[in-house]
Amino acid sequence: MKNKSLLNGTWNLIVDPQKKGEKESWFSPTFLNNQKYSVEKIAVPSNYNTIPKLFEYTGVVWYILELSEFPAISSKEDLFLCFDGANYIAKIWINGQFIGEHEGGFLPFKFRLPNPLKLKQPNGDKNWLVVKIDTSIVKDGIPGESTDWFNWGGLHRDVYWEIKNKIRIDHVKIKSSFNSPWPHSAQISISIKKNNFSKNLLDEHVLTCRIYELRKDNLTQIKRASQIYIQQEFSLDTRSIQQFNMDILNPKLWSPTEPNLYEIELQIKNLTSPVIERFGIRMIETQEHLLLLNKRPIKMKGASLHEELEPYGRHYSTQLRRSELQAMKALGFNALRSAHYSHDERLCQLCDEEGLLLLEEIPLYWNIEYTNRKIIKLAAQMIRDLISRDFNHPSVIVWSVGNEVPVEDLGCRQTIKLLLQYARKLDPSRLVTYASCRMVSDVTRKYSSINAINFYFGWYYMTPYNLNFFLDAMYYGTHPKTPWIMTEFGAGAKYGEHNLKEQFSEENQARTIAHQIQVMNSKPYMAGWFIWIYRDFRSSQRLNRFQQGFNRKGIVSEKNEKKLIARIMPQLINKKIERIRHYRGLAQFYAYIMRWVERVAVKIIFFLEFRKERKMVKSYYHTELD
Ligand code: GCU
Repeated sequence: MKNKSLLNGTWNLIVDPQKKGEKESWFSPTFLNNQKYSVEKIAVPSNYNTIPKLFEYTGVVWYILELSEFPAISSKEDLFLCFDGANYIAKIWINGQFIGEHEGGFLPFKFRLPNPLKLKQPNGDKNWLVVKIDTSIVKDGIPGESTDWFNWGGLHRDVYWEIKNKIRIDHVKIKSSFNSPWPHSAQISISIKKNNFSKNLLDEHVLTCRIYELRKDNLTQIKRASQIYIQQEFSLDTRSIQQFNMDILNPKLWSPTEPNLYEIELQIKNLTSPVIERFGIRMIETQEHLLLLNKRPIKMKGASLHEELEPYGRHYSTQLRRSELQAMKALGFNALRSAHYSHDERLCQLCDEEGLLLLEEIPLYWNIEYTNRKIIKLAAQMIRDLISRDFNHPSVIVWSVGNEVPVEDLGCRQTIKLLLQYARKLDPSRLVTYASCRMVSDVTRKYSSINAINFYFGWYYMTPYNLNFFLDAMYYGTHPKTPWIMTEFGAGAKYGEHNLKEQFSEENQARTIAHQIQVMNSKPYMAGWFIWIYRDFRSSQRLNRFQQGFNRKGIVSEKNEKKLIARIMPQLINKKIERIRHYRGLAQFYAYIMRWVERVAVKIIFFLEFRKERKMVKSYYHTELD
């Protein structure tokens, strides 16, 4: 077995609506060998909802795989069972032995199997891998009980064995910075975690780093350049985490227009197998109200995307993912927001290659119990796992810790502030934020490095023509002068609806979005905008005659059919409004007054909850997240 072998393929599936499987030990070889149970066949990875009769099912299902081979490892190796994503709670058994469990639908997890031989069935009996998945909506889960998206469940990402030497390099983190004279010299700092590396190995071993340029030989194939770009050796010490710096002269920087990539190969000579990581050299920073990429101002222009494609659900091919990113680039987009959770890591890899700036998010969404310690720790684990997984992707520039969270609630404010500080500590090289839908009373924004706002002028309230004033009220009237991005704005439309009297006509959608794009392009402090949303997506909340189970705010239909706004986007994307009005004094006055109106309204609500909330908050926020 090579060091990574996929367990993807056709598994058996048992549906367990009465949730009796655990009590009846459906995970045991005795039960499985008797095969007195009716099964469906299910592809892994996929969402079980793609089986028509299970489309609307939420609850427990059992994934069962008879292992064709049982991994054998030497005493110098570790064996891991790895899952790239399983929604929502997963419990794992091998031959009836409980291996572990994981909560959260969109990030990888793995279990080290200390004694694989003890797990193996004797004398040629069948070996069974069993995964119980529960997609029930839980009160203290993330996301919470109400979401505007479809609850696709199951093993929707790769499952595989991984064999690693006990003495190994774990977790390589690569950061790039610029030396002077910029941009002719850059520096990458490489931080490695050494596993099981004892003192006696020190003097005879060094770390060899080889850097290669990556080149696109055609539209999609990326290959290493033949010769080594830079090679350097470093002596090792006993610290488990060690950092090294390498200078790169005349670096080819990463940007949406020139997504140059490199590959680094790290090896402790004669001891470990090479670890290979891709990276890009780029710097993201803010300067007052400006967002700078490689020291130059840039505006993020794009859309959000749910990880969903008909008829596949959340798991679909790399080629299909690449073609949708190329379609976004063809519209003129340079940015994408992975709503409202981390997508398959292939999205990051493709954004690296195709040149899209990525804002990634954890699904802390709408109303949940923000003072619940379990939720706080789970949210922290999610942001930690997300940053750990995607740290080396140059396309990722913003971490978002939540969406439309009720910041008027003290517990929510404390949790968001905690998560922003935690994300910043884990990764000082990127921006941290959360998407707010409070205009002038959001006091938590000051902990973000870029202000993200969601407003639907012309759809849920007012008209698109009010956006200009309210943006100025927020910027000039409330906040320290950091950049602002509109992480959601838009309107619904049914593809092919052209009755101008209908709110869901393509024409109404185009008019609503087009005006707001031009306003935001005309505001120096607007560092970007993301249309909500690129593609129509399933939502059980959207049931009118135009929606029929889909949220129709996509600029393309669920079949990727371009609506009017998508067809005109290339001509629209950089347009501004000549002689746009900037409301400074009036906007500040409005914000000052409205801040109190919003705050008074909020305080009244909060005061009624005062004793309960304040006590709960005090008792929770000494909690260490690690
Ligand atoms: C909210 C929310 C989205 C939702 C959108 C809508 O802003 O963040 O998840 O789909 O509004 O109303 O369509």
